Amino acid sequence: MCGIVGYTGKRPAQGILIQGLTRLEYRGYDSAGIAVQEGDSLAVIHRKGKVASLEHTLSHFDFQGTCGVGHTRWATHGKPSEANAHPHTSCGGHIAVVHNGIIENFAELREELEGRGHVFTSETDTEVVAHLLEEAYQGDLVAALRDACSRIVGAYGLAAVCDMEPGVIAVTRKDSPIVIGQGEDGAYVASDMIAMIDATRDVVILGDGEYARMTASGIEYTDEAGCAIEPRITHVDWDLDLAEKGGYPDFMLKEIHEQPRVIRDTLAGRLVNGALSIDELDLTPEELNLIDRVYVIACGTSYHAGLIAKNLIEGWARIPTECEVASEFRYRNPIITPTTLVVAVSQSGETADTLAAIRDARVKGARVFGITNVVGSPVARESDGVIYTKANKEIAVASTKSFLGQVVSLTLLAMLLAQAKGKLRMNQIRLLFRELADTAEQVERILAECKPSIEEAARACKDARNALFIGRGMGAAISYEGALKLKEISYLHAEAYPAGEMKHGPIALIDEGFPVIAIATKSPVYDKVVSNLQESKARGAMIVAVATEGDEDIKQHADHVIYIPKVRDAFSAITASVPLQLFARAIAIERGCDVDQPRNLAKSVTVE
Ligand code: F6R
Repeated sequence: MCGIVGYTGKRPAQGILIQGLTRLEYRGYDSAGIAVQEGDSLAVIHRKGKVASLEHTLSHFDFQGTCGVGHTRWATHGKPSEANAHPHTSCGGHIAVVHNGIIENFAELREELEGRGHVFTSETDTEVVAHLLEEAYQGDLVAALRDACSRIVGAYGLAAVCDMEPGVIAVTRKDSPIVIGQGEDGAYVASDMIAMIDATRDVVILGDGEYARMTASGIEYTDEAGCAIEPRITHVDWDLDLAEKGGYPDFMLKEIHEQPRVIRDTLAGRLVNGALSIDELDLTPEELNLIDRVYVIACGTSYHAGLIAKNLIEGWARIPTECEVASEFRYRNPIITPTTLVVAVSQSGETADTLAAIRDARVKGARVFGITNVVGSPVARESDGVIYTKANKEIAVASTKSFLGQVVSLTLLAMLLAQAKGKLRMNQIRLLFRELADTAEQVERILAECKPSIEEAARACKDARNALFIGRGMGAAISYEGALKLKEISYLHAEAYPAGEMKHGPIALIDEGFPVIAIATKSPVYDKVVSNLQESKARGAMIVAVATEGDEDIKQHADHVIYIPKVRDAFSAITASVPLQLFARAIAIERGCDVDQPRNLAKSVTVE
């Protein structure tokens, strides 16, 4: 939540900061601002709204300063407004700071600082940092930052500039990401390397409690005590295309279309001599065999990937598995023993609740595997082993390709556990792996062929106020994700129910034309789903069925049918979730919504 950027070098900073902020908008987009060293003072401009509105304002200024910081915000403390937009400045306006995270003790610090005469101009937690820096500053901005951070409690990625230190940016972090890169023309800092991808692909992922002093001629790294440290360079193989829409009207559609590639990349190199191999987990087959309980913990879409994993791990490996929302898990007292495996799933690798649950589980003695999309993210660093989902950077706020990467990775994990437990023989593993790999082609077919039926169903549902998604078994898990996609990008209220639960309450909602979206693919529970469809249809529901090609009978029960290729039930989440993503997007477009940046949301949720 919130994106920060900074640049110091040879070129005017304004354009570089705006480009970086535009790429970081997925992290928050309710207000934005920059501070540039202009002459011997700081020019600070903020605007409510998206980066485009800030850019428009800045077009009247055209600052030439070559050092500055910027911020795009997702409000936590204080409403979205110009006053609450970052950068925040000290009383004299000599220091400006941008922050991603939460300062937990800001209220007491503010009271203390106001008692000493500081005047606050915003409602944010961040502003205390600007005033603390002002008090601590004695000619060295990094030293002042170190001093200020000794007073603050919470999570922060911070970058500050001061008009008395031309060309210097001081940076630090704790529990919020900071990436630093040295380009040919200067030094860059950001919450995510996507902001600097055209300048460098060799970056330093700053560690907690580490500091950087960035100048046009180089970057010095120090630890909490001020001692010099050697930076660890991470090379990221990203393509510049990642930051662009590549001819698609929005990032969401582009990312939906990348899914066949994600499946192939996630599977590449996993079958070695006919056996499944996930070396990163760093557990011997004997240790894997000892695992007798699994918890999958995650939030939102990642939690839905976990629901699918529960079915697979229990079905194949016969290990009792629970999938829990991380914000609940962390406040319960779950049964954890040394043979418990906790699988933490997080696209961003930053989600505060998932991280807290990981820490809690490790303290209680569990072995923790992370499944994340972001190399070097906190989830990756704090887990005992990590599987990367190979989705590459996901920019649209609604997860699509990262979800598919998670489902494929969790499917591999379930197969690995079953292999270690001797529940699946080698020839079964090979067959499953082959069919799993085939889903890439099946998704390609869905993308090529399903558009007309999806758009027809979307047009029929676009004016609804509510919708229900139903399914059984795997279909129930898929329904949850379908409903979430629809509500988050189209603002249409949607709920998911296991189809068998309909008559225990939700069926009361059904009246003439009420949309019911059913996952009715061929599966062991197909007939049961069809009965539940009929019950809804009899009460006037408008049925949209996601069904298996060749199933002509379903047309009798559904108003709209979206046919997808036949796959084994275990892999149906991979294929059936794709038309639901397209369906949600098509409705959102019909309703005039911004599919990439839905209101009130941000891509990484670093607050509780
Ligand atoms: C929905 C969505 C969110 C995230 C959730 C967890 O499309 O993207 O529900 O899945 O905020 O985020 P991560 O996976 O980064 O932990």
